[in-house]
Amino acid sequence: MENVKKEVFFETRKLTKKFGEVTAVNQVDMQIRTGEIRGLIGENGSGKSTISSMISAIHPVSAGEMLLHGEVYQPRDPGDAKAHGITMIVQEAGTIDGLTIAENIFVGDEKRFSHHGVISRREMNEAARAALEAIGVTDVDVTLPAAAYSFETRKLVEVAKALYYDPVLFIVDETTTALSQQGREIIYRIIHELREKGKAVLFISHDLEELIRHCDVLTVLRDGKLVDTIEKAEFDESRIRNSMVGREISGDYYRNDYDSTHGKRVMLCAKNISNADLHNVSITLHEGEILGIAGLSGCGMHQLGRVLFGLDKIREGSITAESEDGSSVSVKAVGDALRCNIGYISKDRDKDALVLPASIKENLVLANLSRMGGFISPRREREYAKKQIDALAIKCSSMNQAVSELSGGNKQKVSFGKWIGNGSKILIMDSPTRGVDIGVKTTMYQLIARMKKEGYAILIISEEMPELIGMCDEIMVMKNGAVTKRLKRSEHLSEQQIIEYMI
Ligand SMILES: Nc1ncnc2c1ncn2[C@@H]1O[C@H](COP(=O)(O)OP(=O)(O)O)[C@@H](O)[C@H]1O
Ligand SMILES: [Mg+2]
Repeated sequence: MENVKKEVFFETRKLTKKFGEVTAVNQVDMQIRTGEIRGLIGENGSGKSTISSMISAIHPVSAGEMLLHGEVYQPRDPGDAKAHGITMIVQEAGTIDGLTIAENIFVGDEKRFSHHGVISRREMNEAARAALEAIGVTDVDVTLPAAAYSFETRKLVEVAKALYYDPVLFIVDETTTALSQQGREIIYRIIHELREKGKAVLFISHDLEELIRHCDVLTVLRDGKLVDTIEKAEFDESRIRNSMVGREISGDYYRNDYDSTHGKRVMLCAKNISNADLHNVSITLHEGEILGIAGLSGCGMHQLGRVLFGLDKIREGSITAESEDGSSVSVKAVGDALRCNIGYISKDRDKDALVLPASIKENLVLANLSRMGGFISPRREREYAKKQIDALAIKCSSMNQAVSELSGGNKQKVSFGKWIGNGSKILIMDSPTRGVDIGVKTTMYQLIARMKKEGYAILIISEEMPELIGMCDEIMVMKNGAVTKRLKRSEHLSEQQIIEYMI
């Protein structure tokens, strides 16, 4: 609202964070105004989560200071930050599996419902329901454990929890990329409401379109330093991209050709497959073809990816792929898929694709191990890991570092790296660039385009339509478990044409 006076109410001065040798945040001076949606952007590992974590007191400050309403702000812990009106949605899962939804919302603050030392569950549950209702979520049973719900629903529970405390500064750390369009809309509505009320939002995302649409100002971080502040009037995709990476992004972002021809050899074929999530779906994936699957998150496309890799079963129909020796194999289990050189990049990288306590190197060679009967020489292992780490610019202290210590985007690079260049000829990629920064996205798109030329058969399942339009030879649109449309690559293809068949 224009009549809300926009004044600086939060400030960092030379804010710094060191993790051992690594300076994750380096002398950042940032000012946030009331009634502002501030975007915080930068490549993976540039310090966005670390700054947010200091503001919300998840991590203590190493040096420098913060001011809130002109006074020194030194929160003891997240509860104290919350008491000051600062709440945050973290990048990772922020709910505890074993606690009920209501307990998750009020964890640490149960005394709110205490009468003579006894906590009223009934009141807590009521309040939890009201908190969820306030953000438009009505189909959640607050008495069930969080584990009963999807990542998306649990994220929305975190949002309800953060908003319950009526924040003056609401921090959203890369949450939207993990959500479906419906989930995102809830977040967008909330941040604009806060803005209208004269509150502020610190919004972290890699989605430039989303940032441009929703933010008032962008703060750009590079290697822990604040390198740029961009006002709305100067919002421009290439300007923002260049500022983030600190160099002109050379070459094309997506594919630059409209040649959708590909080999004749059929690498993967599904005929009329059905199960609880899919209805009579058929696909044919050829050598040198990039096939895209578009749809809303519940349309069955993610399940299709799982089924094609043998992770889930089908009730009817058949899936066949060509094995290494050229024979045709019926894909019924992961072992069959691996025999046919199928690689699979899961949407839920933390859950399915990576062994978090293991090292980067071990994760990178994992896909190789199963294929090569369990043994690769340590030297080849190291060479392979090194190659992937370099190619994808995985930011780590060494290849022996545990994957659990990496930032979200770097974890995703590891799961991508697992399958690239290890001999998989058919790649099923579910949301391959979700939550990955522009620099890495560029690398991935270039890799994918090159793999097409080299004859790889690639299936991209994605909720990001520009990437499907930019990369695929053909896009298959799904809705309610069925295929509703197939669209050929064309420079005239628009998001609108796809959306029409999705909803
Ligand atoms: N708990 C931690 N221990 C050690 N290093 C960390 C930790 N958290 C983050 N880092 C490092 O700090 C840097 C910034 O990370 P982060 O703030 O997560 O970046 P972003 O959110 O921008 O991707 C990275 O080099 C990362 O590896
Ligand atoms: Mg982060």
